[in-house]
Amino acid sequence: MSVSTKTSIAGVELDSYVCNASGPKCTAYSELAELGKSDSSAIIMKTCTIQPREGNPKPRLARIGEHGLVQSMGLPNLGYKKYVEFSTKLKKYGKPIVASVAGFSLNEYITLVEAFQKSDVDLIEVNVGCPNIEGKPQVGYDFGQMRDLLSLTCGLGKKPLGLKLPPYFDPAHWDAMADLILDYRVSFVSCINSLGNTLTIDPWTRKTIIKPKKGLAGLSGETIKPISLANVRAFCERLGGKVSIFAVGGGVSGVDAFEFLLAGADALQVGTAFEINGADCFTYINKGLITMLKYHGFSSIEEAKGKLEYLQ
Ligand code: DHB
Repeated sequence: MSVSTKTSIAGVELDSYVCNASGPKCTAYSELAELGKSDSSAIIMKTCTIQPREGNPKPRLARIGEHGLVQSMGLPNLGYKKYVEFSTKLKKYGKPIVASVAGFSLNEYITLVEAFQKSDVDLIEVNVGCPNIEGKPQVGYDFGQMRDLLSLTCGLGKKPLGLKLPPYFDPAHWDAMADLILDYRVSFVSCINSLGNTLTIDPWTRKTIIKPKKGLAGLSGETIKPISLANVRAFCERLGGKVSIFAVGGGVSGVDAFEFLLAGADALQVGTAFEINGADCFTYINKGLITMLKYHGFSSIEEAKGKLEYLQ
């Protein structure tokens, strides 16, 4: 049986179900070119800001046990103008290019979205869930500000605009965010960003493991998969096929990819496994997904998407 993992996000076709997540190894042009040559089905660029940033002081990233990773990178990036330039140079790899943007004010979000609307990217992911900037709350947790942000950025051009959301833990928040997404016709969501403001301690030195923000950092990796799955499912139920869903958060294997597909995700972004294992992850996760699809008798993503069953 021939099985395809071709899929699409907001009408943009992806050759496989698996691509990189904004975060690891997607800041410098050389890293983005490596993604172009890899089996990642898209090139998602590092979240960029108006000005270039060095990011937070080190240590700012650590593996936690076997299943997690904490980081407080602080948005190190080359500034948005470079990523606008890169979008043109990266077209030669023949796969979709995704901008990821974060502003420090509503005006900055407008400038960033306007710039990428005029660029060669295919999708624009608006990051409203970066937890690692001292004094900057996550916009995605402020529904009033989210309404202003969407009203100002959704009409700025034809390229599909999406939201990279923080995790929500209460159905009332899923309801509120889904209403906003439908009101402003957001084209896709990426669920979820790392879990913000987690603390890790070295009991022998009695110090925090991460330096910035008194040790508080974003948690990612396998540990957070149940939270990502719940958020994907919650938005799948509320957005009913009208809005594409990127799953992101703890997907490290083909079995994970299949679970995200059952929960309703159109495609899977991989962050931590790419950080740890490199670009092979795109190949083996997609191959593992094909094995799972075959096992269950599905021949395409569309056939299996959202087919989670509930216990009676
Ligand atoms: C950073 C962390 C995030 O979780 C994110 O979404 C964007 C940026 C960072 O610290 O660089």
